[in-house]
Amino acid sequence: MRLAAVILAAGKGTRMKSKLPKVLHQVGGKPMLGHVLGAASEAGAEKLVVVAGYGRDEVESFVDDVAEVVLQEQQLGTAHALMQSASALRSFPGHVLVLCGDTPLITPETLSKLVNYHEGNKASATVLTANMQDPTGYGRIIRDEQGRVKRIVEQKDGSAEELAVKEINTGLYCFSASGLFEAIEQISSENAQGEYYLPDIIEIYNRQGKIVTACACDDSAEIMGINNRKQLAVAEKELRGRVLDRLMFDGVTIVDPDSTYVDSTVSVETDTVLYPGTMLEGSTQITSGSQIGPNTRIVNSEVGANCKVQYSVVMDSVLGPECYVGPYAYIRPGCRLAAGVKIGDFVEVKKSQLGSGSKVPHLSYIGDAIIGNGVNVGAGTITCNYDGKEKHVTIINDGAFIGSNTNLVAPVKVGEGALIAAGSTITKDVPERALGVARARQSNKENWRKNTK
Ligand code: UD1
Ligand code: CA
Repeated sequence: MRLAAVILAAGKGTRMKSKLPKVLHQVGGKPMLGHVLGAASEAGAEKLVVVAGYGRDEVESFVDDVAEVVLQEQQLGTAHALMQSASALRSFPGHVLVLCGDTPLITPETLSKLVNYHEGNKASATVLTANMQDPTGYGRIIRDEQGRVKRIVEQKDGSAEELAVKEINTGLYCFSASGLFEAIEQISSENAQGEYYLPDIIEIYNRQGKIVTACACDDSAEIMGINNRKQLAVAEKELRGRVLDRLMFDGVTIVDPDSTYVDSTVSVETDTVLYPGTMLEGSTQITSGSQIGPNTRIVNSEVGANCKVQYSVVMDSVLGPECYVGPYAYIRPGCRLAAGVKIGDFVEVKKSQLGSGSKVPHLSYIGDAIIGNGVNVGAGTITCNYDGKEKHVTIINDGAFIGSNTNLVAPVKVGEGALIAAGSTITKDVPERALGVARARQSNKENWRKNTK
């Protein structure tokens, strides 16, 4: 049977106190809406429709061509919101999942279970339900003596007896497309909030003699709706826990999961150890056997096998195998380190390449540099890459040795195997195997301090 999904996402999310539409707030490294779209398509939805309203343009540009976006001009209720997808889905030959853009924890497994339950019972509507210790705020599932779902009553409309029910409407449903939009048209807004309630479709279907069922969600954490930033942080923690669990079961050691942050988009290979305070973000990929952290942030970067990166920040860069970074190094965007490169303490590297086995062990700034293999860059060396207007390139060829506290005023080139004397300010190219010295010669004035003992 074919499957489509509609994601209701027109609300502003007033309680977020944000200019950004609620569904675009990020958890686990991507907007909430992205998680819901991902779960729906993993569950097999071939057609995705997003109902947007507040911040429509932003929602549309995030969704791009992943889903069709339809507009709900005024937020008149969940039934009205779903109605906006009629043009896209009226003749869809299959089932329609209805999801909310602010429930990012929903899993594809639960959605598949919902669809299978719906299909297995040949139902016209299936509500995903959960049992809540505190059901306040949710719609309650009202069943008849035989346990059949009779209707759903909202918090603001319920009697004391109805509100005592702990089985709630998660706001997620599976419908058969056939007859769905005709039934929604019959929903009225005569209720405490003056809104068109989608849950009212249950009573309408019951009247029409159609089959209505409820499928229980095993883990009520999954259906948590995010309304404010406190809940956003709870969702973040839950998602983070899932990612870390997956990594641990896949052979990654995580010394302290409470202080380790890995986006769902990151991949980490086996026998890597993540020490406390590690944050791995975006498209980062860590190859096997690496040791990352403590206190390290790596964003959109590739780290080769058996690297060690500690107390450092690495952004948009590529590290070959067996590199050693930190403590306290800052690798800025556009760096490529070949195998066995060492970037030591208090070193900043930007948009530079380092060949295999090259070392910048202490206290340096390397920017816009192309450095060959086996180069040693002494402590305190600075590439002076910026003349106030433009950036210039420094080239250091294989096997060169840069003495400590050298300034390399770019554009400048140091030839293969050349040696730069410590403390030099190099403004001219140094030929291969030459010694470059550019500093005042030392003179000693004898007996300068006559009266000191
Ligand atoms: C809804 C359900 C309630 C259920 C709860 C689960 C109704 C009437 N009630 O209540 O039974 O327990 O979800 O969280 O449906 N939206 C639109 N356009 C609108 C109204 C809402 O797109 O006109 C979207 C919102 O952005 C949100 C979703 O629909 O993503 C749910 O709307 P919300 O107002 O949060 O519904 P609840 O009052 O929580
Ligand atoms: Ca809600």
